[in-house]
Amino acid sequence: MIVLESPLDMHLHLRDGEMLKKVAPLSSKEFAGALIMPNLIPPVTTKKRVVEYKEEIEQITKKDHFTPYMTLFFKSNYDLEFLKSVKEEILAIKLYPSGVTTNSQEGVKEFDKLAPTLEAMSELGIVLAVHGESNGFVMEREREFLKVYEEIAKNFPNLKIVMEHITTKDSVELLGKFDNLFATITIHHLYLTLDDLAGGLLRPHLFCKPILKTPKDKEALQEVALSGYEKVMFGSDSAPHPREKKEAPGCAAGVFNAPVALSALAQLFAKKGKEENLQKFVSTNAQKIYNIKPPKKVVKLVNELFKVPNEYEGVVPLFANEALEWRVESVV
Ligand code: NCD
Ligand code: ZN
Repeated sequence: MIVLESPLDMHLHLRDGEMLKKVAPLSSKEFAGALIMPNLIPPVTTKKRVVEYKEEIEQITKKDHFTPYMTLFFKSNYDLEFLKSVKEEILAIKLYPSGVTTNSQEGVKEFDKLAPTLEAMSELGIVLAVHGESNGFVMEREREFLKVYEEIAKNFPNLKIVMEHITTKDSVELLGKFDNLFATITIHHLYLTLDDLAGGLLRPHLFCKPILKTPKDKEALQEVALSGYEKVMFGSDSAPHPREKKEAPGCAAGVFNAPVALSALAQLFAKKGKEENLQKFVSTNAQKIYNIKPPKKVVKLVNELFKVPNEYEGVVPLFANEALEWRVESVV
């Protein structure tokens, strides 16, 4: 048996409206809290939207002892006064380079104009969460973005920066070079490589940004996650899209893994004999990095088969129709 206390998902897309109703309970049942991504249409850029969106999530998850930790969509016109007014409502601000992923069009185009907002965030202690990809060749985008991370980390030593969903060995190595760099890692990047997506028949449900990488990258991610290293935490990047948007000539980017998250993590950590480090990866590290105290929730997983459904109301999960070796037995 594996017992987890207050598991946290520090990178989660819940969407809004009907999709939110479908997917939020699949996270709120087992997780004690999650960092909620702001890439809605239109993106969450005002205090009013943050508060309304939070209330919409709470309406759906209220019986579950689940804290939605909210984020704002980074804009380089946010000033100190605005940030002061919204600080209590958010845990981080999420920066997307324009056009690199789903609903990121309104993201940053000019990276030389970030300084005043980053300075203000640093002063107020607001965490900067970043989708770190360039507009270059798809397999090199994360590597090309590392110089931006270095630049920001060096220029704003008091700003906490989370490199979201890191996927390469180089990113793991950069983490160790600056005290103010942290990272989240997804399940799909811990389990899969580009071969799973495109090495045989094309599997659109595994298509996401950043794209799945090489076996060497996957090994580096596994090594750092399994070690319990205090600067990395679990962020599922669970990103639901309706089946028809995935099984399409232009497939939407995003892997929906929320319903299998804890089972898949338990399976990986158990297989590698690192069960004792899962609590750190899935809760303790995030609590320290973000300085949060999530609601108390105890999740017990047992070494029994979990047959993953084919879909959840039109949304296809990671490992659909496959069996995982661990299942959630109880949540108290
Ligand atoms: C995410 C989405 O669908 O919102 N898609 C993805 O491929 N990961 C956005 C993101 O985090 O990049
Ligand atoms: Zn994401």
